[in-house]
Amino acid sequence: MTVRHFLRDDDLSPAEQKQVLELAMAFRDDRHVRQPLSGPRAVAFITDKPTLRTQVSFATGIAELGGFPMIVDGNLAQIGKRESIADTTHVLERMVSAIVWRTFGDDSLAEMAAASSVPVVNALTDGYHPCQILADLLTVAQHRGGVSGLPGQAFAYVGDAANNMANSYLVGGVTAGLHVRVGGPEGYLPDAAVVARAQEIASRTGGSVTVTTDPVEAVAGADAVATDTWVSMGAEAQAEERAQAFLPFQLDADLLAHAKPDAIVLHCLPAYRGKEITADVIDGPQSVVFDEAENRLHVQKALLTWLLEQR
Ligand code: NVA
Repeated sequence: MTVRHFLRDDDLSPAEQKQVLELAMAFRDDRHVRQPLSGPRAVAFITDKPTLRTQVSFATGIAELGGFPMIVDGNLAQIGKRESIADTTHVLERMVSAIVWRTFGDDSLAEMAAASSVPVVNALTDGYHPCQILADLLTVAQHRGGVSGLPGQAFAYVGDAANNMANSYLVGGVTAGLHVRVGGPEGYLPDAAVVARAQEIASRTGGSVTVTTDPVEAVAGADAVATDTWVSMGAEAQAEERAQAFLPFQLDADLLAHAKPDAIVLHCLPAYRGKEITADVIDGPQSVVFDEAENRLHVQKALLTWLLEQR
């Protein structure tokens, strides 16, 4: 069998994503239910961008799987600069059981995966954040009838509809059979290729895709409503122009009132209160953002376990 990677949400088929989410539920119930890294075997976690949740959840998870988290500072490693991506990968694969990388370009991650005999996992790129979407799906399942209750739920995302979270919500959400509605201003909407891919998956899972410039249309009747920072890592120079463009998409109590009365509120964090979300919403009774953060741990343990089993 060839090695499996998780670079993008659709690297898991709908059935495989369900298996991973069900295993994540088992890890929620018993954090040591499986220990595929016992030995310990090491997993490399490399980051070229700031991180808190991702590093801590992977490091904790790898340790709880019986393994050793090898944290690699991207500034020291300088992958692709000091040493080619392929050479770096060939060194790492001799020592570790999997490689988890947070970086900029999706092409760099794809280059690593092409060279690697061990699973490569996307811990956030400019294009996608698929581990976060697994955590969000687990959070919806936790609050809305379990993993088998996911198909048919309406999931709204408002704000920067051209960023990694929007892309992953589109592709990963429809994989779970969700009706994914993405709302953002002109100029910050997802690429046609991402929308087409999501529509193609939705046609098989019973999900659907809506892309709109109307925040109310995105949120109306939704079971879950999510937003994300208006200024993703790497886009800091555009902070001012973005603040203007995204203001109508701020997730405040008025906008949330268009969702179902018991809709849950998600945010991958870090959050900027008074920008993409107001304090009363993120700190209010509908917010499940810390369940969502904890779920990173459970889904990533399930994902690593699943990937290691495919070989
Ligand atoms: N879109 C954000 C996600 C942070 C977890 C970023 O890329 O910075």
